[in-house]
Amino acid sequence: MSKSKAGKPDTDKVEFFRHSVGPDERARVAEVLEGVFLTTGAEVRAFESELAAFLSNDRADLRALGVSSCTAALHLALLTAGVGPGDQVITTPMTFIASANAVMHAGATPVFVDVEPATGLLDAAAVEAAITGRTRAVLAVHLYGHLCDMRALRAVCDRHGLALVEDAAHALEAVRDGVRPGQLGDAACFSFYATKNITSGEGGALVSRHPDRIDRARVLSLHGMSAGAEARYGDTYRHWDMVALGYKYNMTNIQAAMLRPQLVRIDQLHERRQALARRYEAAFAAIDGIDVAVVKRGATSARHLFTIWVPARQRDHYLTELGQRGIGVAVNYRAIHLLSYFRRRFAFSRGQFPNAESIGDRTISLPLYPGLSDHQQDRVIEAVRDVHAGVQSIRSPS
Ligand SMILES: Cc1ncc(COP(=O)(O)O)c(C=O)c1O
Repeated sequence: MSKSKAGKPDTDKVEFFRHSVGPDERARVAEVLEGVFLTTGAEVRAFESELAAFLSNDRADLRALGVSSCTAALHLALLTAGVGPGDQVITTPMTFIASANAVMHAGATPVFVDVEPATGLLDAAAVEAAITGRTRAVLAVHLYGHLCDMRALRAVCDRHGLALVEDAAHALEAVRDGVRPGQLGDAACFSFYATKNITSGEGGALVSRHPDRIDRARVLSLHGMSAGAEARYGDTYRHWDMVALGYKYNMTNIQAAMLRPQLVRIDQLHERRQALARRYEAAFAAIDGIDVAVVKRGATSARHLFTIWVPARQRDHYLTELGQRGIGVAVNYRAIHLLSYFRRRFAFSRGQFPNAESIGDRTISLPLYPGLSDHQQDRVIEAVRDVHAGVQSIRSPS
């Protein structure tokens, strides 16, 4: 067992995740609480323009809409891309269920294709091979914070007249081939769920280079009403109309107040994630039997999750043993076509997407967040090595 600086046995749990919300966020939220509008208002508008500026990065002219979750953003992105009943949307089974669920909420059918074995990301050639007369869109998922090959996917979508939507829940800070989420896709969807790189507990955003789609999504995000609360309750009351059948997906000023200071610190927070991820990569590089997902050379991952891929048959043993050593772990993700609902509804079975299944059977997510100290990370690494050595000795008795 490792020792802390004080020389005592180090038994404190290393949490899987801790947020980086601090005094700046508390002060900003307090200011909003002093005001009149707790729901959608000026604070959300300010967050939207700051987020759009961050992602546009002098290269694009993006617009943003704050919403209640990434799932809501995905639903709105698909609807405003024209996806509806009878359509097919090509996506990956190596993702969180929300990606495929949003397709079904839009009335369309998710069509899974297998992922690249080294990255776990959507394979553009497999996408092109799966296109049918009913395909309306491609939903790319930037797993772990590593961007898909957006240039290749854009070319495929352009060749076939398809919309390209990005599930960028993991990928706020990511860049690949000089491109950020939202710059090549028709829409990019972000999550500010409790464990995400910046968080408001729950929350999301839709970002697009098509201003008309953001305008349409804004109306759909609030019941299809022609005016939000702030516009209705100005100096003089204004009547509103219902112009479409919408949803209750709006972001609140309280959520935006939590997010704005984190967006100011985002580079600093991301730098720490990068440093931790590189330390993990260096620690596991020489260990036979432990693999990590490849990040394309020159690309910047948002470093949302750090996963190791261990031998499938012992994966759950690693999870138990790491838990018993006080290390918080998670599984992101088991391939979703094998979950009961998808098997039942679409008759999926094992063997259809072998790369996604293999990653899903082998993956373990380790603690990765800016507040993780080097010392805590060393404990994680030591615990993984220890469990791995135990497994190896059982697998190959000498
Ligand atoms: C890849 C991916 N897509 C979508 C979501 C859904 O995000 P939200 O919880 O904000 O709806 C998540 C959340 O964990 C995710 O990891």
